[in-house]
Amino acid sequence: MPLDIQFRVAPPQELAADVLVIGIPQAGPKSPSIPHSLKPVDHALEGALSKIAAKEEFTGKRDQSLSLATLGRLPADKVVLLGLGERRSIGAPELRAFAAKAARTANSEKGSSLALALPSGPEGDLRAIAEGLELGSYRFTKYLTGDRRPKAELLKVEIGLASAPKGNAKGALALGQRVGAAVNLSRDWSNEPGNVMYPESFAAAASKLAKDCGLKIQVFDFAEIRKRGMKLIDAVGRGSAREPRFVHLAWTPKKSAGRLVFVGKGVTFDSGGLSIKPAAGMGEMKHDMSGAANVVALMAAVAAIQPKVEVHAIAACAENMPDGNAYRPGDVWGSLDGKTVEIVNTDAEGRLVLADALAYARALSPSLLVDNATLTGACVVALGTTCSGWYANDEDAARQFGAALKQSGEQMWRLPLLEDLREQVKSDVADLKQAGDRHGGSITAALFLREFVGQSRWIHCDIAGPASTDRLSSWMQSKGATGHALLTFLALIERSTR
Ligand code: BES
Ligand code: MN
Ligand code: ZN
Repeated sequence: MPLDIQFRVAPPQELAADVLVIGIPQAGPKSPSIPHSLKPVDHALEGALSKIAAKEEFTGKRDQSLSLATLGRLPADKVVLLGLGERRSIGAPELRAFAAKAARTANSEKGSSLALALPSGPEGDLRAIAEGLELGSYRFTKYLTGDRRPKAELLKVEIGLASAPKGNAKGALALGQRVGAAVNLSRDWSNEPGNVMYPESFAAAASKLAKDCGLKIQVFDFAEIRKRGMKLIDAVGRGSAREPRFVHLAWTPKKSAGRLVFVGKGVTFDSGGLSIKPAAGMGEMKHDMSGAANVVALMAAVAAIQPKVEVHAIAACAENMPDGNAYRPGDVWGSLDGKTVEIVNTDAEGRLVLADALAYARALSPSLLVDNATLTGACVVALGTTCSGWYANDEDAARQFGAALKQSGEQMWRLPLLEDLREQVKSDVADLKQAGDRHGGSITAALFLREFVGQSRWIHCDIAGPASTDRLSSWMQSKGATGHALLTFLALIERSTR
């Protein structure tokens, strides 16, 4: 259910709610830590606010917070000051993160209503604020029953503005809510356990989305996947009782400024196959379809924005399991592209399903081809769990993607397609070897994928760190409330129509 979000021009001391969160830009060295505009709040609290702010050295640094009960002296029950950081660095990503933290605070204080007060200036970006509110109020509680259910839930938000907003404020809020809901949908799919989210049910969820949003969709069942020659998806999916599925959604406006094609890895559970993973942490591999969830849920945001550019989302879905029928190390498999691949480790399955999906996507003649995958542990080793890696085979595409990243505020670091490592994906018995040695594992995976994109301008995003742990729901929100690449893709789409 979306939040009920309203706004009005009113000072913070007039806002009534269970929790009132006030955004405070960082004070300069000479200015007071509590801005002048908060004098009435401080008065109502008999000077307690400025006293505590001084004692706790609150200066409005980003993430700094201070909270106190109002004991009936204000219409709000509780006041929380949240630092916004330096005034000139407050942009859409900062406002989104601020709003997300405010929503999280309201939920953790068991408040069902939140009032948000912002200083004059940055409140213009109501879309980013609405995005943040939806992202920050996200929880995954559907499997909790009885006493385990949360006692309270944030339902209502009132935004208090210092001055009347410019433009279509209601429209901006509504759009922000739909974008936030798209990210939350992706989170829901990723958080679903493997017994619920398998290729067929993922395809059903994508079909429902397509129907709700008025988008075109094609779903290929296992017979169709085989008929079309997607041999690598066949190889990965054949060891599971759950059949693979291939999903293709499209937004095709009349006048289009290009064709962006997004491809996602949809391994609904990755046991490693015959090269089975160790028991510890295997459960986290239910998140191994996060790339597919991102690109498909992205289409809900696309339907809301209605860009003048064609957008396609392609999800290659399979479950990687060990079985008498499973593919094996040493096997040689063909591919949709025609190249043959020597299998060395059945746990390097993501690049295989992606290879066929990229070959399929390439045939759509994209102006830009982007893939999104929880692809390698090596990327997590390189960048940690809070940052994704990305690659580009074209500098112009890289500049475009870099600009989109700046706009979204998501944390992703570019890694190089080092030609030196190409040796590692050469095989003696086939055209390509599926995986290299331990060294440069994220790069060799990217080099393997590059073999299937042809002449397309291509970006590859390895989101193994941020998307494949439970942090998806909690950490992601506390550290900036991002959509682990979905928001960057959306920025890319919006920028390409300008
Ligand atoms: N899904 C994993 C990658 C992964 C690891 C995602 C940790 C999130 C957290 C992928 O399918 C995989 O198993 N990759 C192997 C490749 C190796 C066998 C060449 C890996 O990274 O160990
Ligand atoms: Mn694997
Ligand atoms: Zn995997």
